[in-house]
Amino acid sequence: MKNTAYINNEEHEFKAGETILNFVRRIEGEKLIPTLCDAPNLDPFGSCRVCSVEVALTEGGPRKTVASCHTPIGAGQYVYPSSESILELRKNILELVLSDHPLDCLTCEVNGNCELQDVAAQVGIRQVRYPEGENHLDREKDLSHPYMTSDLSKCINCYRCVRACDEVQGQFVLSMAGRGFDSHIIKGHDQSFMDSDCVSCGACSQACPTSAISDVFQSKAILAEEKTRTVCTYCGVGCNLEVSTRNGEILSIQAPYDAEANLGHTCLKGRYAFKFYNHEDRLRSPMIRKNGELVPVSWDEAYDFMAEKFASIRDEHGADAIAGISSARTPNEENYLMQKFIRAVIGTNNIDCCARVCHSPTALGMQRAFGTGAATNSIADLDHTDCIFVIGANPTDAHPVTGARIKQRFMQSSVTSIVVDPRRTELANYATYHLQLRPGTNVALLNMMLYCIIDEGLVDQKFVDTRTEGFEDFKNHILGQSLDELQG
Ligand code: FES
Repeated sequence: MKNTAYINNEEHEFKAGETILNFVRRIEGEKLIPTLCDAPNLDPFGSCRVCSVEVALTEGGPRKTVASCHTPIGAGQYVYPSSESILELRKNILELVLSDHPLDCLTCEVNGNCELQDVAAQVGIRQVRYPEGENHLDREKDLSHPYMTSDLSKCINCYRCVRACDEVQGQFVLSMAGRGFDSHIIKGHDQSFMDSDCVSCGACSQACPTSAISDVFQSKAILAEEKTRTVCTYCGVGCNLEVSTRNGEILSIQAPYDAEANLGHTCLKGRYAFKFYNHEDRLRSPMIRKNGELVPVSWDEAYDFMAEKFASIRDEHGADAIAGISSARTPNEENYLMQKFIRAVIGTNNIDCCARVCHSPTALGMQRAFGTGAATNSIADLDHTDCIFVIGANPTDAHPVTGARIKQRFMQSSVTSIVVDPRRTELANYATYHLQLRPGTNVALLNMMLYCIIDEGLVDQKFVDTRTEGFEDFKNHILGQSLDELQG
């Protein structure tokens, strides 16, 4: 059967696994089908029904209304994304949503940048016909947290925040309590944000289509003059960030959905730890100590001073009397310039980078074992493995965005997860096995594992024959060790 289906009776090819929404959007663009509960980095949920379309099995045949965001497209199906009755249905849904939502948009922080406002405009809602009845507009705001805020009078029960907390961060802080009209979002055991286990990653705030859940930086407020895409330098995950600025000041940071490394997510540091950049203690100009006092000077004076000092030290004591150390927090280009300066200008090889201290053993080990000092697999591979072994790492602390993805996989029963760490790390709590070894015994443990794999005939011989060299020497070395001694 051909992989084709029809949009308004026109035949188009679809891709395997596509939903009706993705199929129509790929062909017709984003605007034809509005959505509310759907989000690019969340699994389809199908709660708001704003994305409804009509589907028929034959041209002119009986039509059925389905939510396009979670219905797979099938071969030969006829999709009608904007029939008269669908347009009417969307209006009715929106009107019902708005009948329990504050309508004073002008005073709302996200006015002009609110998905609910956009969708209402898109489906053509001008006003709500229903008289004011029972509603949830008097819900109290939660301002208990240093970063996160909530104003659930603006909640439309789309579950996006709950799903972001579960599916993106794996923290499971938010959930829906109550039934029907009493349904409402709670944090933890119906606590405040502050008292809950919230880790302030901000995924819920970014996911919320209104300002029901937001943050103290009003990240969704349409105040920005400019948005700049950049890469976070806090850790090695390489999260892409979108920095909103006005008058040269950073207002907020969001995570773009199309970024491969972080898929619309970032951690507390990447999203909220930016105020240091204009802290009053930050140096605004170079300083030179004069008569025992640090005095601000111009860059020209600072360069002259440095050049003179470097030259006099080199002339008097030789180039090796000078050493340079650069930082992993600077771009590669600046690290390159630093080593060039020390080698070519000063004339010494005394140059180092803080990254070497932590990465030199890994890079060398990986280079020898795999032929490259960098990772040999992608973060996305986490989704395709059935065993994850974490040793000497605490990713949920040190690399939180990748750590969150590992945590998600740890929670799936199809994955065997092993954490080797003397500490009970967060991942250790979810691991199938936590090997809580004594500090400093990693190598002994790995040797014992290798011993058992070889001794018990568990080696993947085909892999060894086709992908490795020097295995016999390695095997003899491993089997030459005493298990008793390794255990000691
Ligand atoms: Fe499809 Fe909400 S967007 S049901």
